[in-house]
Amino acid sequence: MSQEHYTSTLTQQAGTYLPPLHGKASAWVCGNEEAEAIYMQALEKPEEFWEGRASQLLHWFKRWDKVLEADEERHKYRWFTGGKLNASFNCIDRHILIGRRNKAALIWQGEREMDVRCYTYQMLYTEVCRVAHALSSLRVRKGDRVALYMPMIPELVIAMLACARIGAIHTAIFSGYAEGGVRSRIQGAKAKIVITADAAVRAGKFKPLKANLDPILEKCPSVAHVVVVNHAELFDVKMMPNRDIWWHDLIEDFTLDVDFPCERMNSTDPLFLLHTSGSTGKPTGVLHSTGGYLTYAAHTTQWIFDMHDDDVHWCTADIGWITGHTYGVYGPLALGATVLMFEGVPTWPKPDRYWRIVEKFRVNILYTAPTVIRSLMRMGEAWAERYDLGTLRILGSVGEPISPEVWQWFYKNIGNSELPIVDTWWQTETGGAMIAPLPYATKLKPGSATKPLPGIDAAIMRDDSTPDLDGSADRRSGHLVIRKPWPGIMLGVYNDEEKYQSYFSRFGCYESGDGAEVDEDGYYWILGRIDDSINVSGHRLSTAEIEAVLVSCPEIAEAAVVPMPHALKGEAIYAYVVTRDEVAWSDTLRKKLLDTVRRDIGALASPEYIQFAEALPKTHSGKVIRRLLRKIAGGSSLEELGELTTVAHPEVIKPIIYGHQNILLGQHETASMEAEAAADGRG
Ligand code: WTA
Repeated sequence: MSQEHYTSTLTQQAGTYLPPLHGKASAWVCGNEEAEAIYMQALEKPEEFWEGRASQLLHWFKRWDKVLEADEERHKYRWFTGGKLNASFNCIDRHILIGRRNKAALIWQGEREMDVRCYTYQMLYTEVCRVAHALSSLRVRKGDRVALYMPMIPELVIAMLACARIGAIHTAIFSGYAEGGVRSRIQGAKAKIVITADAAVRAGKFKPLKANLDPILEKCPSVAHVVVVNHAELFDVKMMPNRDIWWHDLIEDFTLDVDFPCERMNSTDPLFLLHTSGSTGKPTGVLHSTGGYLTYAAHTTQWIFDMHDDDVHWCTADIGWITGHTYGVYGPLALGATVLMFEGVPTWPKPDRYWRIVEKFRVNILYTAPTVIRSLMRMGEAWAERYDLGTLRILGSVGEPISPEVWQWFYKNIGNSELPIVDTWWQTETGGAMIAPLPYATKLKPGSATKPLPGIDAAIMRDDSTPDLDGSADRRSGHLVIRKPWPGIMLGVYNDEEKYQSYFSRFGCYESGDGAEVDEDGYYWILGRIDDSINVSGHRLSTAEIEAVLVSCPEIAEAAVVPMPHALKGEAIYAYVVTRDEVAWSDTLRKKLLDTVRRDIGALASPEYIQFAEALPKTHSGKVIRRLLRKIAGGSSLEELGELTTVAHPEVIKPIIYGHQNILLGQHETASMEAEAAADGRG
């Protein structure tokens, strides 16, 4: 397949963009007619559709007995039951058997320009087998949890695939998390092994990981061993005898020609656990299945990115997040593609880093996040102009709404006004993209993730749980839900059935927690979270988790955390705190609170502003009214707050508004996280 197939110009028509409709014979889904036929098939015969995809895309050791076992009462959906497969086999061995032995599976660009590593499928196989043996020698068995607290280095992908080979459940922890964030995730998973590195390298600085981990492990009795990659070559790493082992020492005993036979996993066995922010202070441990998840990952990767054999695919997300799992590792490797992995940040040493990489490796598909695009946009297009971006064929966006202005900038300056942008809406829980265009079939509207993918039954619900029905001419808006199961749906929430059920309790089907609008063409416009989550630079954070850290400081009696709009980050964190009696309000206290959040959760959770308050607005039953606090943080005046009859002591509101205005006058901005946002962002 040559690039010429794809070099036609999108035509713009009154705010919509038409993909080129000719010369796309080699696209997986070509043109609107073909797409419509697929949508119809998936709608009329969903099980046939999904089983078709599962057999086309994956190798099964044993075929399934049933496509879907659904327990509608308990909302349990089990895909391809009776089927046996292994994710590591599908991502590696299968490609070697069909002639991709010498194809690059993984190209790694380190933070330093000269640090490049390339693994062919054969080389990946060798390393994964060695690590599987090594983990096995540490008594890791099927079903055990292995925590991965690692930077963006090839060993992370190798460790994931080694776990999958054994049938152990990996649980990646974003390396930007600090003490509390890491501890709760290791404890939540009851991990037996932690794999880490001496340090991450970020924007020219070392960020120690192993040293961070040591105090945490004192409170994690389940951890028997820590495996440490010597990545930054720090020489003062303390290793605890009998517990800590260097990665290179551990694998040394395993020769290069040793196979590690893949465990025959049930389709419904868990592949991995990934924590995300929930509505409580405790992270939600989302568990994904082997067969359903991998089918959905491969399926969406192939169609949304129109992935072909000679493509170089670059998903800029950190593997610590779901995007990195599905579109940085499992989806593209299951398809036998070439994945590019980058350790560094978009703006270091200069804001041209991404474009250098695109030119250097002739990248074809670039999947990134609006927060990254916004930060690069601010630096000016000149940084991109000096590079040849001509190999790019598809651009993608994920993690937060992309505004039409940012979309246009990306389209014009990076896509040379001719590449489709796939804006993909999805979540950790959904396993893969749910609302997204098919690049050579769907008309694009800047700012909209377009339409639900084939087989995805999205809908909008009103507050009173009735559906806002299709067919109304007006824009419909409300809660975004998914009415029918799809293969990527999470298997469950680890050790928390109640939490799992809470996704289904309100509407009787999967509730996303996002609000959305649907326009007259059936296009979805995501409005953001309705629940108590905040989306900072594409990072999903829980307000409850941040509040819990703030009130853990003895000076603080109460805290309420809300999002506020932010030009670069999308949303920023705004914290209201009520101090205990006798505690004076001061910048020193503010700094202490900020440091506590940074230390406990990580810099990504630092509030942009901390406002002291005498009291918080509450209902008569004593519940903090976050809706009002959110409006005040967003700049609403007293009049704009509307009806206040539900507020128990409305007199508390005025001083809060004054306090907010003072803060905006600039005295109290706590920190500019811009550099960090770019550094630890999805980029
Ligand atoms: C938001 C990330 C608008 C949304 C894959 C969702 C988006 C949350 C988009 C999930 C998009 C993700 N447009 N908003 N294209 N993609 N979101 O679990 O609020 O880290 O609920 O998964 O990100 O975040 P999560």
